[in-house]
Amino acid sequence: MIKKITVFLFFIAFSGSLLAQQTNSEEKKRFIDDLLSKMTIKEKVGQLRLISVGDNQPLNKTLDEIEAGEIGGIFNTIVEPDLSQMQDRALKSPNKIPLLLGFDIIHGHRTIFPINLGIAATWDRNAIAKVAEVSADEATSDGLNITWAPMVDITRDPRWGRVSESFGEDPYLTSEAGRIFVEKMQKQSLSDKKSLVTSVKHFALYGAVEGGREYNSTDMSERKMFQEYLVPYKAAIDAGSRAVMVSLVSVNGIPAAANHWLLTEVLRDMWHFNGVVVSDHGAIRELINHGVASDPKDAVRVAINAGIDISMNDEYFLQFLPELVKEGVVTEAQIDQACRHVLELKYDMGLFDDPHRNLDPNLDIDTMFADNRLHRQEAREVARRSIVLLKNNNNVLPISKNAKIAVVGPLADSKRDILGSWSAAGRASLAVTPLEGIKHAVNNAQSVNYAFGANLSNDANLYRFLNLYAQTTKFDNRPADKMIAEAVAKAKKADVVIAFVGEAQGMAHESSSRTDISLPASQKQLIKALKATGKPLVIALMNGRPLTLTEEYAQADAMLDTWYLGTEGGNAIADVLFGDYNPSGKLPMSFPHNVGQIPVYYSHLNTGRPRGTENMGKYTTSYFDSPNEPLFPFGFGLSYTDFNIDFVLSSTEMTKDSEIVVTANIENVGDKLGTQTVQLYLQDITASVSRPVKQLVGFENITLKPHEKGQIKFVIKYDMLKFWNDKMQYVAEPGKFNVFVGSDSTTHNKKTFTLLDK
Ligand code: NOJ
Repeated sequence: MIKKITVFLFFIAFSGSLLAQQTNSEEKKRFIDDLLSKMTIKEKVGQLRLISVGDNQPLNKTLDEIEAGEIGGIFNTIVEPDLSQMQDRALKSPNKIPLLLGFDIIHGHRTIFPINLGIAATWDRNAIAKVAEVSADEATSDGLNITWAPMVDITRDPRWGRVSESFGEDPYLTSEAGRIFVEKMQKQSLSDKKSLVTSVKHFALYGAVEGGREYNSTDMSERKMFQEYLVPYKAAIDAGSRAVMVSLVSVNGIPAAANHWLLTEVLRDMWHFNGVVVSDHGAIRELINHGVASDPKDAVRVAINAGIDISMNDEYFLQFLPELVKEGVVTEAQIDQACRHVLELKYDMGLFDDPHRNLDPNLDIDTMFADNRLHRQEAREVARRSIVLLKNNNNVLPISKNAKIAVVGPLADSKRDILGSWSAAGRASLAVTPLEGIKHAVNNAQSVNYAFGANLSNDANLYRFLNLYAQTTKFDNRPADKMIAEAVAKAKKADVVIAFVGEAQGMAHESSSRTDISLPASQKQLIKALKATGKPLVIALMNGRPLTLTEEYAQADAMLDTWYLGTEGGNAIADVLFGDYNPSGKLPMSFPHNVGQIPVYYSHLNTGRPRGTENMGKYTTSYFDSPNEPLFPFGFGLSYTDFNIDFVLSSTEMTKDSEIVVTANIENVGDKLGTQTVQLYLQDITASVSRPVKQLVGFENITLKPHEKGQIKFVIKYDMLKFWNDKMQYVAEPGKFNVFVGSDSTTHNKKTFTLLDK
């Protein structure tokens, strides 16, 4: 009886909420229809314009255009009094439509977290969630209501500078990170005061630019797109991302911003996306350079027809769209449709009721950037989880807090670099450098001796390039051998040497492609000299991309990848160096031996002639001057303890309606508390198309005390076996599958099951 009543009440509640939803959407439609009926074409087009404050656009001009109803959103400022003023002026526009207030919040806002490659290296959903929550919290406190994130481009070419902004090479790991960003930033409802609208980017394939050269073209089979590269965008959209930013590059010959197939057939028709499609910065104008539009007016026509709603920072929409409508080349219904997407978003955000949400017109800059508005504890916890231990011979690490330490290198005390790229609201002065973190942590700060050691590079051109980004990496005018001699002298007096080497953050940024991804010669010379002292050498890398490190790997006694760890980076590094935190990070991207191997990624297809171990590789798929495998594989990362992992399957057969439970047994066989990320990979051995040799389908973390045992359970479901078959249908095919469970993508821990044809 109770059960029946519960079911009945549930039914009433459910139908009640359905009714409320329906009423809400009817009200919304009425509201927007009414608004559209009152708007001129020019005002409608105004809603499709997103303007960057500052770039050749003085504040006064922006304010006037806002009041005239010619701007629907602005971005690139976080000065609250200005934002507030802009919103005031929007409410004086003919139809009083509030503005979208946007900013790039990529890996933190005022508190800077590790770069995204580092966030992915945590392989920790809670850590990723923390980054997204804190970022949204800080951004909305500054009155912002939309961001251009998450960036979920799959990246397999470390020559490309923007790999630093990505979550790496794998569709599943990237999808998980993207999904979590969307859920935690947008929250349950966009009308939540702390909700920040996300714009998943860059749709699509920006990470696949040929040769890793920035803004270059991409060309890819549809199968690979749907199987791998498009997966994370779809995951973010399924998680509810209400905006999509379109990539600047061409996809199979058609620039993304002109690509009807991509923006309309895939995004709207196949994936049922009903949010806002935003072009990237200047993309409409660039259609002329791409050679798909003859002049600015033509570019506008091409973009709107492809499915762009909002143009980011260009004049052309306003100049030419009204004219195109008058000429009948573009219909008013098309403009209405794009405008409706924007107005619906603003409605769902509750902006019409509360346009000034979270804005404080009196907030002064000093308060905005005050230390007490930062989330230092959260930043430190995520940063230390991001660090990947790559080598640790003779347990050089952790270091005793009583040791005499030489801290050396151009990146050891650089506040700007540790923030990484895309950290515009971050303040370098508030960041903790490795040198500062180490000095805080040791028992006696006098036992730490610092030497700059070498410039990042001896190449003056590099500094000219870095200065383009107002980069503040120090350049020391002393002769290189003097600086090295000073570092060597300090190293000789120390028990251990820690060298902070790598790239300046400006080298791993938008428009920072490299063909040589090794350490610059100045730093190589420094390491060679430090090695020659015979002192234990710890190489702590700061980098925004996989580097080629074969030589340094051989020279180092211990090696850590610290990416750019953000505001609390120096403290997080000290936590790991001195064993207050046992490193647990895992690489989200393979590190090649050399540039010639690129692209090198774990989930490649097999070939007809796989390289065996028994010969030199003649007539097999191989290089005669390089291994096929990377130096460090995807998923790899050591700990100060060791783990054994084995696993069992609940069954060796599966049907469409059944599942297989994978039980992994993990034992900490070392003598320190530690966290292991257990990774689950599948291989579809025989199918109608070649399938990857391994594909990540699950991961979980477990923390164990010395000699403690634990279990993790994964469930293999039918849907996880699906792929795009020879007829481009998304299906699972009966047959044998390998299951791998281990601590990185090279694991040989394997079991097999069969998917039956029933
Ligand atoms: C261009 C970049 O490609 C994009 O990622 C960014 O969001 C916009 N500029 C706005 O800053």
